[in-house]
Amino acid sequence: MMEAEAQAETEAGSVESAAEASEAPIDRERFAFSEEGPWKVDLVELGWLDDLDRVRAATRAEVPALCRRRALPPIRRFIEAAWLVGGAVVLWALRERRQGGEASRAALSRRLRIAFEKLGPAYIKLGQIVSSARGLFPDELVDEFKRCRDQVPAVPFDRIRPHVEAELGAKIEDVFAEFDREPLAAASIAQVHRATLRTGEEVVVKVQRPGVAALVRQDIAAMAWIAPVLVGRIPVAALANPPALVELFAETIVEELDFRLEGENMLDVAAVLHDAGQTIIVVPRPHPELVTPRLLVMERLTGFDYEDLDSLAEAGIDTAELLHGMLVTFLEGAMIYGVFHGDLHGGNLFVMPDGRVALLDFGMTGRMGEKQRRAFMRLLMTGAVNDVRGQLEAFRDIGALPDDADLDALITLLKIDQPVRDPTKMSGEELAAEIQDVLKGLLQQGARLPKHLVLYVKGMLFFDGAVATLAPDLNMFAQISRVYGYFASRHADTIAAQIGFDPSQNAIDLTGARQALGLEDEVDSITHRELQQRRQTIQQKLEDEIGSPTELLGRGD
Ligand SMILES: Nc1ncnc2c1ncn2[C@@H]1O[C@H](COP(=O)(O)OP(=O)(O)O)[C@@H](O)[C@H]1O
Ligand SMILES: [Mg+2]
Repeated sequence: MMEAEAQAETEAGSVESAAEASEAPIDRERFAFSEEGPWKVDLVELGWLDDLDRVRAATRAEVPALCRRRALPPIRRFIEAAWLVGGAVVLWALRERRQGGEASRAALSRRLRIAFEKLGPAYIKLGQIVSSARGLFPDELVDEFKRCRDQVPAVPFDRIRPHVEAELGAKIEDVFAEFDREPLAAASIAQVHRATLRTGEEVVVKVQRPGVAALVRQDIAAMAWIAPVLVGRIPVAALANPPALVELFAETIVEELDFRLEGENMLDVAAVLHDAGQTIIVVPRPHPELVTPRLLVMERLTGFDYEDLDSLAEAGIDTAELLHGMLVTFLEGAMIYGVFHGDLHGGNLFVMPDGRVALLDFGMTGRMGEKQRRAFMRLLMTGAVNDVRGQLEAFRDIGALPDDADLDALITLLKIDQPVRDPTKMSGEELAAEIQDVLKGLLQQGARLPKHLVLYVKGMLFFDGAVATLAPDLNMFAQISRVYGYFASRHADTIAAQIGFDPSQNAIDLTGARQALGLEDEVDSITHRELQQRRQTIQQKLEDEIGSPTELLGRGD
C-alpha cells in the first residue's frame, strides 16, 4: 500500500500542467474561453501562477498525515454529527412520520438536509452526490438535497467582508465599484458574489467561507477513523474501498481549499478543451491578479439550468447533441489528456443562450498519471471491442484487482463465457443468490474500487441522470457506437501509439455492453427510459425478496 501510494504521488507530481505546456499562451488561441471576455489571459502575466507546482506538491504531501488514523476518534465531531442527524430523525419520528408516504419522506429529507448543512462541507458534498443520483435514492431526498448544490445558507456580508478585504489586502470599495451583499450562490466551501470591478468588468467573486478548512480537517480525521471499522464489520464494504475513498476525498478537498490551484485547474481544463478542438464548452477566465488562496475573481457568465427543458426548447437547443458533446469532452479529457472536471452536477454548469455550456467550479479536477491514464484508455477500448481478458487486465492495472488476481476465475465467476441471462426474467431469489455469489467472488479476488476511477464513475453517474432528464429516448447502443466512432476518427493515431490498439481498424462490438446491461443477444436497441424501467423491475424483485438492498450488503459475510 505504501509503495503504491508513493508511486501514485510521483506520477501525479510529474503530470505536466496542460496550460504550462502551451506554445501560444494567449487567451482564445490557447483556451476554451468566451468570445468577448472582460480581459485577456496571458500566462506570462499571471503572477498568482508562480510557484504553484510547489504549492500543489506541498498540499499533496499533507494528505497522508491527514488520513492517518489517530488513536482516539474525534469524539466531539462524532457527537455533533450524531446529535444533529439523530435529532433530525427523532424530531421527524415524533412529528411528521405518522403522515406517512410522500409527506413523511419529504419531511425527513428536509430535516436531514438542514442537519447536513449545519455539519458543513463534507456533508454538503455528500448531499450534492445524493442530489445527482435520482433513481438510487427516493425522489423527495434527491429534490431536497438539490439545495446543497448552490443554496446553502450563506455567511452574512458583515462577516464575509473582513475576509474578502484580508485576501485582497485592500478595502472592497477600492477594488470593486459594486459588490452584491447577497451571494448569488453558496455551496460546500464557498459563496459567490456578483460584483463589478472599478475598471468596469462584470465579475463574480468566489470567497471561501471562514472556518471551513478546520472543519474539513476534522471530518477527514473522522472518516479515516471510521473507514477501517466499516471494512472490519461489513466485509463487502471492502469492495467500495473506504480507505481509498477517504484518501481521495482528502486529496481533492485540500486542493479545493486553495483557490490558486482552482485557478490553475480552470486554465488546464480550458487548455485541454481548446486543444481537443471542442467548441461546446466555455470556461470563465480567472482574473490576472485577483486570485489568492481563499478568493477567486473570475469572468461572470450567464445562462440557465441544464434541466430547464422549457428554456432549452425555447433556445432551440438539441439536447441529445448537447449531451453527446459533453460526454465526448469528458471522456476525451480523462482518456487522452488525463485532466477532467471531477465535480459535474447541476450547480456547476449552465447552458448559455447560444447553446454552449458554461462549466464552473474547478476545485475538484480529476488528474490521472500516465500509467493510470493508459490503463484507463485500455479499459475503455477493450470494453468497446469486447476483449474480455484485456478489459480485466486493464482493471487490474488501474488498481481494481491485485497483481496476482486470477482472471480466468473472474471470467467464470462473472459468467462472461456464458450466454446472458436476462435479470428481469429471473426470480427475486435467483437474483439475490446471483448477486451474493458475485460479491463474494469479487471479494475473494481482492477486488476494490480504484481511487483513480472514482471521479470518472461519479461523472458517469451525472451523465446517467442527465440522459434521463434530457434525452430519455436516446438509443444507448447507437450512442455508444457514436462515441467510439468519434475516438476512432479523431484520436486513432494517439491511441494506437499509446496502447497498440487502433480503433479505426477495429469495429465496435456491443456484446460486452449488452452483457453488462443483462440484455440477451437479439436486443440491438434500448432507450434510457427502457433501461430505467428494467432497473426498477430488478430493484422491486430484490426488495420483495430481501426487504431492502442494504440488507443484502449486510449479508455479505
Ligand atoms: N463564473 C461564474 N459566473 C456566474 N455564476 C457563477 C460563476 N462561478 C460560480 N457561479 C455560481 O456560483 C455557484 C457556486 O460556485 P462554485 O464554484 O460551484 O462554488 P463551490 O465550490 O462552493 O460549489 C455556482 O453554482 C454558480 O451558480
Ligand atoms: Mg459548485
